[in-house]
Order: sequence, then structure tokens, then C-alpha cells
Amino acid sequence: MWLFLYFCSKLGSALQRAFYGSSGRVTLNEQRNFTGRRLDLTTECQKLTEKNFPERCNSVQVESGAWVGYEYDNFRGRQYLWDMSDRGEYNSCDKWCGPVDHVSSVRAFRQDNNPPRIQLFERPGFSGRKTELQDDIPNLMTRFSMNRMASVRVLGGAWVVYQEPNYRGTHYILEKRDYNNHSDWGAQGSTMGSIRRVRFN
Ligand SMILES: *[C@@H]1O[C@H](CO)[C@@H](O)[C@H](O)[C@H]1NC(C)=O
Ligand SMILES: *[C@@H]1O[C@H](CO)[C@@H](O)[C@H](O)[C@H]1NC(C)=O
Repeated sequence: MWLFLYFCSKLGSALQRAFYGSSGRVTLNEQRNFTGRRLDLTTECQKLTEKNFPERCNSVQVESGAWVGYEYDNFRGRQYLWDMSDRGEYNSCDKWCGPVDHVSSVRAFRQDNNPPRIQLFERPGFSGRKTELQDDIPNLMTRFSMNRMASVRVLGGAWVVYQEPNYRGTHYILEKRDYNNHSDWGAQGSTMGSIRRVRFN
């Protein structure tokens, strides 16, 4: 019975993805604990105020896929990851390490089905010591004596890198492409504490 229900819900989200395109679905709420004004998105939104949603967002439920929230419109400013880890439930903005509840634009992740694989380089332009990963690393310092990365090559999957260990603090989204230096992933510097794979389901 449970297996059957599980199968139905999987099938449901697969059908939903087929219907809405590959991006999935996310719900934003103005207040904590999924209350207040709400906005459902199945595709990117450059400016939430144009959908009559206030720029304050305090809880998020990911139904499927993985999403990035941005502090400012047109996908600028701080980046916030909303994916399917912890069942996609974010009941307050500190769950996504947001120092403030300000979100102005949202886009869907580009999903990549290759096995997760990423190369971190010590220097810009893919030079210096290279560290290749296929799995989450909660503490880059204790594991690889490494606290910065200057360029990155994502060879499979999608990743998120955090400034602090244990997946905390300011973070940046890394999709399948080359990042020549830290400004390519939107950062002011190259300090890194932890890195993990993005969960799409
Ligand atoms: C959400 O609601 C629960 C139960 O009512 C409450 O215990 C919890 O503190 C609330 N969380 C937030 C972040 O407001
Ligand atoms: C970072 O790399 C881009 C090319 O990807 C280049 O245009 C830019 O000047 C570089 N920035 C720094 C700070 O090296």
C-alpha cells in the first residue's frame, strides 16, 4: 500500500514536470510556517512584485525540482538555494541561511542528469592544485586542508558552495559549466567552507 502511494506520488510529480516543463513547482509564502500571501511558480520570475507578491518571503515549499531565490530582481544579489533536501520544506528564512527575508526574483535550476562531478582549482583559470569531488563535503578544511577555491569546473550535476562549514552562510549556485574565477559565480572572494550536491527529488 505504502509502496503504491509512493509510486503514485512519484508518478504525479513526473507528470507534473512533463506538464509544466522540466522545472517543477515551488510555493513562496510571505510569512513563516507557510502562511500569509502565497505565490506558486512553475517557471522563472524576474520580479515578484509584478505577480503581486511582496518582496518579503519567509517560507518556501518545493514541490519538485530545485530553485534559486535572489535578493534583487533580475537574478541579482544574494543567492538562496531551495531544493528537495529536507523534503523541500523551509519554514523560515534562516532555513535557507537568509540574513533577511528579502527575495525579489526566482528561477529554476537547470537540471543535469550526469553523475555528480566537480573540480575545484586553487588558482583562477583552472590552474594550481586540483581537487575532484563526487559527493558532499561538510568541511573542506578538515577534509582537504582547503578554505578557498579560485576556479571551478562542473562536469556533472548541480552544486552549491557555502562560505562556512556544514552548509551554512552565504552560498553560491554552480551549474554545469566552467567558472573562471569567483566573480563568475557571483562572489566577492574565494573563501569556501563546504560544498554539496543539489537535490532534485
Ligand atoms: C511553526 O509552527 C509550529 C507549530 O505551530 C511552531 O512550534 C513553530 O515555532 C513555528 N515555526 C516558525 C519558524 O514560526
Ligand atoms: C574573471 O573571469 C572573467 C572571464 O570568465 C574575466 O572577464 C574577468 O576579468 C575575471 N575577473 C577577475 C577578477 O579575474
